[in-house]
Amino acid sequence: MTQETVTITDNRTGKSIECPIKTGTEGPAVIDCHTLYQELGLFTLDPAFVTTASCESKITFIDGDKGILLYRGYPIEQLAKQSSYPEVCYLLLYGELPTAKQMEAFTQNICQHTLLHEGLVHFYKGFRHDAHPMAMLVGVVGALSGYYPDAMDISQPEHCNTSAIRLIAKMPTIAANIHKYLVGQAYVYPRNDISYVGNFMQMMFSVPSEPYQFNETANKALEVMLILHADHEQNASTSTVRLAGSSQAHPFSCVAGGIATLWGPAHGGANEAVIRMLQEIKTPKNIPEYIRRFKDKEDATRLMGFGHRVYKNYDPRAKIIRGICHDLLQEMGATDQALFEVAMELERIALSDDYFIERKLYPNVDFYSGLILKALDIPLNMFTVIFAVARSVGWVAQWTEMIQDTHLKIGRPRQLYTGYQRRDYVPVSKRK
Ligand code: SDX
Repeated sequence: MTQETVTITDNRTGKSIECPIKTGTEGPAVIDCHTLYQELGLFTLDPAFVTTASCESKITFIDGDKGILLYRGYPIEQLAKQSSYPEVCYLLLYGELPTAKQMEAFTQNICQHTLLHEGLVHFYKGFRHDAHPMAMLVGVVGALSGYYPDAMDISQPEHCNTSAIRLIAKMPTIAANIHKYLVGQAYVYPRNDISYVGNFMQMMFSVPSEPYQFNETANKALEVMLILHADHEQNASTSTVRLAGSSQAHPFSCVAGGIATLWGPAHGGANEAVIRMLQEIKTPKNIPEYIRRFKDKEDATRLMGFGHRVYKNYDPRAKIIRGICHDLLQEMGATDQALFEVAMELERIALSDDYFIERKLYPNVDFYSGLILKALDIPLNMFTVIFAVARSVGWVAQWTEMIQDTHLKIGRPRQLYTGYQRRDYVPVSKRK
């Protein structure tokens, strides 16, 4: 079969090159243009990587037009309904659903790493008591690589796997300790005799003076949230982790970079921003004025939780979360019914407004997720931390896939230079 190619011709010189077209198992094919500079002396320019594939990956597939999300081929809707977060961690890391025996060993392995080095716990004390939890998370996870010298050699697969397991195991402890530090309560140690999510909730909310009441409805809602946020192809924070990892930095440092990127309101910080927006709108009667502002080019306000670089249809995760929201708020009688009603009315109006329809702006994962986290009594400033806990497995699975690539090279993009051409230094006495 003849090689399928795209011809690129520079009509200034008449020179052409044939760039191979590479086809994957799903989704758009790609043009392999890595010889473009060498053959035609040209770079490609795609500032926000809107049409750039940065790597090959087998982990997650998204079809933005059809609203499809698969983890290692399994539809997110089936995983959300039938799987658990630790099982999804195994799937994302190793590529297959585990047998009962493999899952037992994996769970045991995680349980051996849920504690933090006591020195790291003292690290928290350097933060102000009003520090944003994401600022603390970036710092503490970045510091992790200073505590585990026994697995720093990323050329050794067992070191890489140990670091992956350590991250998945320790993120709930790190996150819960941040919450306890900020509310001035005693840290709660992890328990290895209960589920991953049950342990996270007891570290977040139990106090030494009272027996902790587990709430299975709340735990199930959080489990689904963690599954839905576990991975999402080459999003901004994952791309940060991959670029940092391409320099062969330690995975904990790479993930700290991913956490910093996730914090932005255009990315994972949107879940916190959605709630602040709904609280500001207060009641459905204020919605029309806000819709006008969201559409006004002179007004920087955006409809947070709407729009997505890839999904030009309803984010499948938003659909699932919306359903859980409804059930959870009914069952837990959460006081946030009013906020949920504003959210649903805002969604209804936006989805019937030409501005949003023409731009294919639909609710994304963040539009409803904050309502669930709020109903679970998770503090607003901790919402993106929960997103980071969930996404840690995605980051470390993508990092592992990259490190295992025998053709791994450091990522080093070029640029279109538009600055001054060469000019000579001017002594200060001669400057005007
Ligand atoms: C996440 O990449 C991932 O996979 C991310 C994520 C993951 O799981 O990792 O899915 C998680 O980050 C979800 C996104 C959360 N962010 C928000 O909800 C913030 C609000 N959304 C927007 O900021 C925006 O939609 C982005 C950042 C999500 C996507 O931006 P793009 O793809 O760069 O689109 P754009 O800015 O070029 O917008 C295209 C048009 C523009 O109007 P025109 O210039 O064409 O007239 O749509 C408008 C934008 O002004 N627009 C919005 C809007 N989003 C886009 N207008 C009002 N409100 C919005 N939310």
